[in-house]
Amino acid sequence: MVSERLLDFLNKAIARELQVSIQYMWQHIQVTGLDGAVVEGIFRKIAIAEMKHAERLAEQLDYLNGVPTAKPDPIFVGSSLVEMLTQDQRDEEDAIELYKEAIQLAHQEGEYTTRRLLEEILADEETHINTFGKLLVGMSEPFTQPGTSQIG
Ligand SMILES: [Fe+2]
Ligand SMILES: [Fe+2]
Repeated sequence: MVSERLLDFLNKAIARELQVSIQYMWQHIQVTGLDGAVVEGIFRKIAIAEMKHAERLAEQLDYLNGVPTAKPDPIFVGSSLVEMLTQDQRDEEDAIELYKEAIQLAHQEGEYTTRRLLEEILADEETHINTFGKLLVGMSEPFTQPGTSQIG
């Protein structure tokens, strides 16, 4: 018999997945500048992956007789690429922590298909944090050439 605690974990994960799927999609829309042009496709691709995570978790929760939440966690889009990536890296870190805890619990309860699903999602989150972390390397803001901001 699956515990309320595990069902809560699944719903917490769904709320986070809904949050980041919107967050990354809106970053894809709103990011500006040359760097933005390079990364907008990455935001879009990961946003879609997160939506699929939400779907798979909701399917599993429904199977376990839970009701999937429709409410995302608070969304933070950010106003610059560095701000976006810093927030996204933090969100992936939190997701990884949550999934690791949930995997342990699913294992303890003998919920093996839930565990496998969580492990697959965890593996994706690890690639996401790696991607965001690499994009952040060497970035600083705001970049302004000394003495050029007052021209004219
Ligand atoms: Fe995800
Ligand atoms: Fe992710």
